[in-house]
Amino acid sequence: MYQGPFYQYDLDLLNRTLSEALRAASENNCSMYYAMKANHESKILEKIKSKGLGVDCVSSGEIERALEIGWASSKIVFAGSGKTLNEISYALSNDIYMIHCESVEEFELVKDLKEQINSQTLIALRINPDISVDTHSKISTGERHHKFGMSFEEATMIISEHPTLVRGLHFHVGSQILDMQYFEDLSLKVRSLIEQLPNGFKLNYLNLGGGLGIDYRNPERNPIANFEGWMNALRIHLPTSIIETISLEPGRSIVGQCGRLVGQVQYIKHKDSDQPLVILDVGMSELLRPALYDARHKITTRKEDMIEENYTIHGPSCESSDHFGFDHRLPRLNRGDLVEILSTGAYGSSMQLNYNLRKAPKSKFIEGNIYTELKIKVA
Ligand SMILES: Cc1ncc(COP(=O)(O)O)c(C=O)c1O
Repeated sequence: MYQGPFYQYDLDLLNRTLSEALRAASENNCSMYYAMKANHESKILEKIKSKGLGVDCVSSGEIERALEIGWASSKIVFAGSGKTLNEISYALSNDIYMIHCESVEEFELVKDLKEQINSQTLIALRINPDISVDTHSKISTGERHHKFGMSFEEATMIISEHPTLVRGLHFHVGSQILDMQYFEDLSLKVRSLIEQLPNGFKLNYLNLGGGLGIDYRNPERNPIANFEGWMNALRIHLPTSIIETISLEPGRSIVGQCGRLVGQVQYIKHKDSDQPLVILDVGMSELLRPALYDARHKITTRKEDMIEENYTIHGPSCESSDHFGFDHRLPRLNRGDLVEILSTGAYGSSMQLNYNLRKAPKSKFIEGNIYTELKIKVA
């Protein structure tokens, strides 16, 4: 019996995705730090940790969650353009593996605190590669005007002054990138930057971020992202003779397709427009992506009806932007029917809002034939 909206996670698909990602990583000498921002459900994190991936955190809350799950400090990296002193202090006092400094000021803070408390955490610099990618403007991060990272000139200045303190470099150009050419461009750009680094600097660690896209249009046909294409593209100009291991931070590509959000049709309005307007019991509070960046998710129903119709589908919140778009072709819907919003494993539950004080959906997990249900843990 339906008892309200829930996220349903297919852990078998997550297992298959992880196997494929690990196979590609081993062939291309890459190591992966899962970007926890995509999904911080404990059961998902446990699974990812059990396969040996490290974890990429962007707040002290995420580092805390990673430590709770049992990740060793040496498998945690920390990025973020606005780390507070408290967060830096928390990371350094836990001796996490690497902190990615995103500005000259942040580097100074980290350097001083690291010395003061004799932290084992290593320092990498996040460089903004000034590459423009064809993705939604709100998830593109690697152009000069974006707030992320420092310029190459700033990084070179820091490295010249502290050639042994800086251990590595970090880049990330954006998210939901499907054209491998952009990763090839990043590879070429990083290669040319490495060649201009001050003499005597040894690059021990190179992190090229995440960003691999998934198929939101046809998730059933393409449930697993193109890990091999991604890593091959990154390696084109950066062979092992230049850098032994490339570190990566996939988020969406690991968890995106294993989750679906299940909700129920509440009302169907027949307005002047030619498409009936459906209002669900799930919307922007449960899944923010459509309202935030016009993201399109495929919506299905298990209901069978010979007659299909095009619907515009909306959430229940008091905002006109709370909608899932037009032209969702579905068997004829009635009040009470369940619908499934696909590809919502990434940036779904982790981006939930408190808006309108709506009850958070539950999380259900399926692995083999075993079904587990958990109340979502809110940070
Ligand atoms: C620095 C950094 N690394 C990794 C990721 C994960 O990206 P994705 O989920 O696209 O793989 C992001 C996402 O925005 C990011 O900003």
